[in-house]
Amino acid sequence: MNSKILVTGANGQLGNELRRLCKNFPGLEFIFTDVDMLDITNPDAVSVFMEASKPAFVVNCAAFTDVEGAEDNVKQARKVNSLAPQVLAASCAMQGAFLIHVSTDYVFDGMSNVPYTENDATNPTSVYGSSKLEGEEKIKSVSDDYIIIRTSWLYSEYGSNFTRKIIALARDKDKIEVVDDQIGSPTYARDLANCIIDIIIKTILNPVAYVPGIFHYTNQGSRSWCEFAKEILQIAGITTCEVIPVTSDRFPSKVKRPKYSVLDTTKIRTSFGIGIPNWRDSLKDCITSANFK
Ligand SMILES: NC(=O)c1ccc[n+]([C@@H]2O[C@H](COP(=O)([O-])OP(=O)(O)OC[C@H]3O[C@@H](n4cnc5c(N)ncnc54)[C@H](OP(=O)(O)O)[C@@H]3O)[C@@H](O)[C@H]2O)c1
Repeated sequence: MNSKILVTGANGQLGNELRRLCKNFPGLEFIFTDVDMLDITNPDAVSVFMEASKPAFVVNCAAFTDVEGAEDNVKQARKVNSLAPQVLAASCAMQGAFLIHVSTDYVFDGMSNVPYTENDATNPTSVYGSSKLEGEEKIKSVSDDYIIIRTSWLYSEYGSNFTRKIIALARDKDKIEVVDDQIGSPTYARDLANCIIDIIIKTILNPVAYVPGIFHYTNQGSRSWCEFAKEILQIAGITTCEVIPVTSDRFPSKVKRPKYSVLDTTKIRTSFGIGIPNWRDSLKDCITSANFK
């Protein structure tokens, strides 16, 4: 097995964290692409690129992640989140490559009050969640050699995310309102990137260690968005802004977001021997890292 890894959607949060980490793994050969270089919704482009580059692994970080925007752009959301994963899976099957695809906690309806396992029934309540679930199903329909990792509440120093937004808002305002009735697990994109590289290395070293299927990966622990915001400001040392808890109906939205979307990570930890940091430790790492502020 070669050690070539094709990363799609590499200009996003997760892709950028893989770019940063790849320097620590000189034995792995990464090919980073984003939509301008490889549009994963274009089957011909994917097939030509795959044939030319012959990767052993494809890590699909590309997605339509604008949850509000997806409600008005159903076609594009489905194209990127549902049809493109099928194209990638089919191409991986043709080339004998392993697909590692990333999905979301929004495949669940949030009516549970205990962490969701991979076997729990899905029931998305948004276009984004439905399109991501459809993507999972399409992958499963064309290949057995896939790993789908569902994650939640991703943040990093890159792109648009809650942590960056809260810090920016708090620098400008003395009060911000944040919803306190949605519970989930904040996840540092760098930790997820590390997990993906770990799985790849373990598979290269011992292909029988590769366990296909759906897995849940988030940082350990859970909080409401409001509690998460308070912790962000505390770690960032911003004391001039008060965080006020409000209920979701304070911010009318087309999207019905899950009230509780904590994912049970037992399966990925035991299947691949992966340790997962606590959400607060990772948040501290992210905010105090040199380039964040
Ligand atoms: N962000 C979260 O809170 C969250 C939570 C749970 C799960 N996830 C999942 O985690 C994964 C990574 O998320 P992320 O936050 O890193 O996403 P992101 O920052 O939004 O990055 C996605 C990247 O995909 C690119 N892309 C869009 N359409 C494409 C296409 N047709 N071909 C190639 N690239 C394309 C985007 O380019 P443009 O910016 O130019 O469109 C962007 O660079 C996604 O699968 C997402 O669904 C994210």
